[in-house]
Amino acid sequence: MSVFAHNCPDIKFTVVDVNAKRIEAWNSRNINELPIYEPGLKEIVAEVRGRNLFFSTDIDRGIREADMIFISVNTPTKTYGKGKGMAADLKYIELCARQIAEVATDDKIIVEKSTIPVRTAQTIKSILESTGKLESSGNVESPDKKIKFQILSNPEFLAEGTAVRDLQNPDRVLIGGDHQTEEGREAIDILSAIYERWIPAERIIKTNIWSSELSKLAANAFLAQRVSSINAISAICEKTGADVEEVAHAIGADGRIGAKFLKASVGFGGSCFNKDLLNIIYMSYTLGLQEVANYWEGVLLINRYQRTRFAENIVSALFNTVADKKIAFLGWAYKKNTNDTRETAAMYVADYLIEETAKIVVYDPKVTQAQMHNDLELLGSRPSQENSNSLCAVNDPYEACHDSHAIAILTEWDEFKEYDWQKIYDSMKKPAYLFDGRNIVDGKKLSAIGFKVYQVGKGNI
Ligand code: UGA
Repeated sequence: MSVFAHNCPDIKFTVVDVNAKRIEAWNSRNINELPIYEPGLKEIVAEVRGRNLFFSTDIDRGIREADMIFISVNTPTKTYGKGKGMAADLKYIELCARQIAEVATDDKIIVEKSTIPVRTAQTIKSILESTGKLESSGNVESPDKKIKFQILSNPEFLAEGTAVRDLQNPDRVLIGGDHQTEEGREAIDILSAIYERWIPAERIIKTNIWSSELSKLAANAFLAQRVSSINAISAICEKTGADVEEVAHAIGADGRIGAKFLKASVGFGGSCFNKDLLNIIYMSYTLGLQEVANYWEGVLLINRYQRTRFAENIVSALFNTVADKKIAFLGWAYKKNTNDTRETAAMYVADYLIEETAKIVVYDPKVTQAQMHNDLELLGSRPSQENSNSLCAVNDPYEACHDSHAIAILTEWDEFKEYDWQKIYDSMKKPAYLFDGRNIVDGKKLSAIGFKVYQVGKGNI
């Protein structure tokens, strides 16, 4: 909404949330205290906040005053009941729809921005219709007027860490709606006109609502599949002496394959890939498409395999035991330029090593120790006290590495490339191991210093 407000100064945007603390943080006087770290965001918020972007907990008023409502609540994987661990939990979507139905007094365009299973628009529609307001009236001024709701799907394709850039200059915008009817087409055009203020019209794709909902899930599934494909190749590289970066370069040069998203790693993380794949798997399964479910499950299995392989490599290189050995982690976030840690590979690798009774000291420029402990707690492998005893965070990378047996790079933060690696080597136990889960350091240079270097898909130590 900040980027919308920046591009449409004459439109008023109000962000409402039940979480008062969060709204307070977005309203915080100190612009450095915004709850999300995202390059370029605070500058935009500073420009538009109080001008045409407002943050509030008054949800009813927000609904009443809006012509268009974006639903962008969380749709996490269900942790209970039918579909537990796989299906998307739509309870927040449902609550939103119910509240809109209850409070609205005039026509609204409802835009689904949350990532949701295909045909969720139908759920929202059923809830809105079930209030009876569509039939009779909620409109005080003219009691016989029917309230009309148009539902659009407008999935978000921005990636964290580059969110502002992605929104400002997207490859495409997707708007799904009921283009069989005039009202549906009109609603699509109203939303499209907002985007067209800064995005060329030819980049705006208009589809039916189900295609739009499915395209969002499919896009993430394809992206995740590319990472798992190159990671599967990286395992073959390590056994054969091929170099995964050379392979990625060679295959990516084929225009049909393309060069992006072919970076081998310790495994993909983030709130989206895992969740959306589970969503597709569960949906395929419930549609009776077991083979399709199995196909996409393979992408997740390779991701788990890649994380485990990385952790196992550490243990086997360190003479098959990491018991009470200090292992330094550089990075905890699931990718650089974000403080988001959801599904980060780092927590799974840490979990594995804690099980082997290692002592882990983490340095991440943006993630707090409390967040790391929280992540491990959510994995639920052991009592939280044991996690706190086994893992701590420090604010200085050199302190993290000092006296350690091994360093594991879990996030590709640029600053890691600039460290004084000779100084780090000198301060470590010998032999000094470096496990680069992101292939960001110069392996040859570090080997020359004396490190025993492991990089993904680049041959074993
Ligand atoms: C992803 C999609 O890229 C966005 O288009 C989408 O809008 C978003 O999910 C969403 O559904 O909200 P995001 O999860 O923020 O965005 O980040 P990505 O850049 O896709 O990275 C995901 C994970 O894959 C990260 O852990 C990253 O390090 C890893 N990755 C990515 C690789 O290991 N190798 C690569 O070549 C690329």
